[in-house]
Amino acid sequence: MESSYTQTFFERGREFLQVDTPIICGAMTWVSDPQLVSAVANAGAFALLAGGNTPVDILERQIKETQELTDKPFGINLITIAPLYKDHLELVRKHNLPFVVFAGSFPRKTEVLKAKATGAKVLCFASTMSIANRMLSYGADALILEGMEAGGHVGHVSLMILLQQVLFKIRDVPIFVAGGIGTGQMCAHLFLMGAAGVQLGTAFAVSDECTAHPNFKKRFIQAKAREAISTPEFDSRLHVVAVRALRNKGYEDFNALQLELMEALDNGTLAQADVQMRVEEFWMGKLRSAVIDGDIEHGSLMAGQSVGLIHEMKPVKAIIQDLLTDMEAEFSRVAKQLKA
Ligand SMILES: Cc1cc2nc3c(=O)[nH]c(=O)nc-3n(C[C@H](O)[C@H](O)[C@H](O)COP(=O)(O)O)c2cc1C
Repeated sequence: MESSYTQTFFERGREFLQVDTPIICGAMTWVSDPQLVSAVANAGAFALLAGGNTPVDILERQIKETQELTDKPFGINLITIAPLYKDHLELVRKHNLPFVVFAGSFPRKTEVLKAKATGAKVLCFASTMSIANRMLSYGADALILEGMEAGGHVGHVSLMILLQQVLFKIRDVPIFVAGGIGTGQMCAHLFLMGAAGVQLGTAFAVSDECTAHPNFKKRFIQAKAREAISTPEFDSRLHVVAVRALRNKGYEDFNALQLELMEALDNGTLAQADVQMRVEEFWMGKLRSAVIDGDIEHGSLMAGQSVGLIHEMKPVKAIIQDLLTDMEAEFSRVAKQLKA
């Protein structure tokens, strides 16, 4: 039975996402497929299909498959720097997708407006107050604040700071927060701070329904928070966007690639744009090797520091239920403390 606290704190996220539980399973390239997305949607929460670098016909098939597996709403995550991004954006209109999350870099105003013209709600990442204001001026309907604790491509600022810089300042649109979340207790406090919902990635990557290779999931279960480290940038000419992943030989392979690319830039054998392409291709390829082929040595084990909070594999329904139970307990504990 849901408490009045949960009803109060969930109201905004529920209304925006049109789901019972404003918990988002963040898009994960190669991981967020129709099975995972529909499992989360059917469990009453919200999920995103990952556009990534997926060929258009395959992404289109995934959209249709997800629509067959659930009649609940779900969204799509589009990587603005992906080679097929423009074609992916076209699928929003073609398939009447109700939600779009722009990721990678920041979308142009015309792209936000194009998505909105289809009737879709648009969510954008905001890593600073000025980016938040820019995305809102473009027409974003909601924001996602993702701290550097998160898995995958990350910014430089922790969620702790983003909460104070952005969440506490912007009250007129729903804000969803991500990065390092693994417990219902933490979710409760984020709702108390004003979040409309929470977004988790790593926790759902180890769900039973996640079709990632068993080696990938097993490695997550064993990992400690401190093993999920972000990549350094050796040279500012490389424009490396940091990636947080479990440290393995793939991390060293990336460092070797950076040295090779610096030399190529020095010698003029590669242009700036090609260098960035090589960096992005490296991550997409390495993530695929880990998620699909199970290469946990050289593949990329993108994971948030939240990996240290996850100790077992569970069905999606149980992940969500456990978060809800712990959230309820924390709301009651705080309420009692405030009344005392
Ligand atoms: C394996 C993996 C792949 C990811 N790929 C994407 C992606 O394609 N697009 C995106 O916006 N975020 C991506 N993320 C970030 C997640 O959507 C989510 O925001 C993040 O995992 C939250 O932090 P947490 O892992 O600590 O829960 C990825 C994360 C992981 C772990």
